[in-house]
Amino acid sequence: MPVSKSTCVGKRALVTGAFSDIGAAIAREVAKLGVDLVLTAWRRDALAAVATACNGVNVEIIIVDLGERDAAFTLWASATASGPIDILINNAGFGYFRRFEEIDWTRDAELMQLIMTS
Ligand SMILES: NC(=O)c1ccc[n+]([C@@H]2O[C@H](COP(=O)([O-])OP(=O)(O)OC[C@H]3O[C@@H](n4cnc5c(N)ncnc54)[C@H](OP(=O)(O)O)[C@@H]3O)[C@@H](O)[C@H]2O)c1
Repeated sequence: MPVSKSTCVGKRALVTGAFSDIGAAIAREVAKLGVDLVLTAWRRDALAAVATACNGVNVEIIIVDLGERDAAFTLWASATASGPIDILINNAGFGYFRRFEEIDWTRDAELMQLIMTS
């Protein structure tokens, strides 16, 4: 079914990593379809700027470190406390490229927690 504003109004989307680049662009485009937003990242100030750009829809902001164990459960409980989530855009992540002998295993564990488990 084609996506149109009439099929989207009243829905709620959870966008993780919504502060920058791809996540912020997705949030703005989804807002144009009339979808209410729950946005997450780490930096509240920058998220507020993204939220302002998503005018015309309800925007909730949740600050969460999805690199931490069980953070996804906490996020889901917070995001669904005020209504169901119809659309999940699980965008948060980062790239981490090193020679094998230069790998920071703490950072590596955070990467796997963030992009695989959370
Ligand atoms: N751009 C590319 O060419 C490319 C290619 C392949 C895959 N991807 C993937 O596509 C997604 C978006 O890419 P992008 O270029 O827009 O990346 P980006 O600008 O680095 O944005 C990533 C977002 O994820 C958030 N994030 C990072 N670590 C987090 C954590 N532990 N907990 C919660 N949020 C966290 C960041 O928040 P903060 O800024 O607050 O840290 C940021 O909002 C990422 O998952 C990336 O790995 C991108």
